[in-house]
Amino acid sequence: MRVTITDIKEMKQRKEKIPMLTAYDYVTAKMIDEAGVPLILVGDSLGMVILGYESTIPVTMEEMLHHTKAVVRGAKKALIVGDMPFMTYHTSISDALYNAAKFIQEGGAQAVKLEGGEIVCDKVRRLTECGIPVMGHIGLTPQSIHQLGGFKAQGKTPEVAKRLLQDACILEEAGAFSIVLECTPAPLSKLITQRVGIPTIGIGAGPDCDGQVQVISDILGLYTDFVPKHAKQYAKLAVEIKAAVAEYTAEVKSESFPTMKESYTMDESLLTQLTAT
Ligand code: KIV
Repeated sequence: MRVTITDIKEMKQRKEKIPMLTAYDYVTAKMIDEAGVPLILVGDSLGMVILGYESTIPVTMEEMLHHTKAVVRGAKKALIVGDMPFMTYHTSISDALYNAAKFIQEGGAQAVKLEGGEIVCDKVRRLTECGIPVMGHIGLTPQSIHQLGGFKAQGKTPEVAKRLLQDACILEEAGAFSIVLECTPAPLSKLITQRVGIPTIGIGAGPDCDGQVQVISDILGLYTDFVPKHAKQYAKLAVEIKAAVAEYTAEVKSESFPTMKESYTMDESLLTQLTAT
């Protein structure tokens, strides 16, 4: 049975921490799912860590749907959240509905995530009324980096901290089933987590959120262009992959790979026939 939003909300009530990771492809989603992670985000971070864009802003619906389908094929148990790309939910409620429905109907996700607080609450309300579970996302919202002045922690001034607290309450009231808090000071994240009844999922938001989300490429040490302060590397796969590729290259050049162990044989008689003609 696949994890549901009710299961996720009950984890907060039981004070059971909620681990969440991003995934962008079949193989990784399968491993994350088999490792028991209950929530998988097909994040628009794929624009940076998979597609090599400088930010998440160029990511399109087509790209998101392509990767969402692959993740859904790989993960059979986790609840899969599709991240709505830049400007696919701001223009109107009907655009938000149309694009969110694509994640559910075409992509096979069970929920969508959108960035922003009060500004998107009319969309959150309508999507949830129409049966599409929504995860909110406040704090550092990467789709707004030009407005925010870069990838910077948010909520360090009284005005912004107050607004983030209000945004969290508004998102809950609009029907969101959980909220990502990105790069908010730990004490503020704690306060928000205490104030709302739905789970908060932190990334760079301190230890007191109900759950934690990380970009899989960061925790595996795969994406090395930029390593965020909040990412702990549990493996150094980029180093291992480069070493494996260098070894393969050296073996091909020195003719020590492939050997007959990695090759196919054929009947001697067939070879004789072929060489005779
Ligand atoms: O796109 C993403 O990976 C995200 C997480 C950082 C929460 O939005």
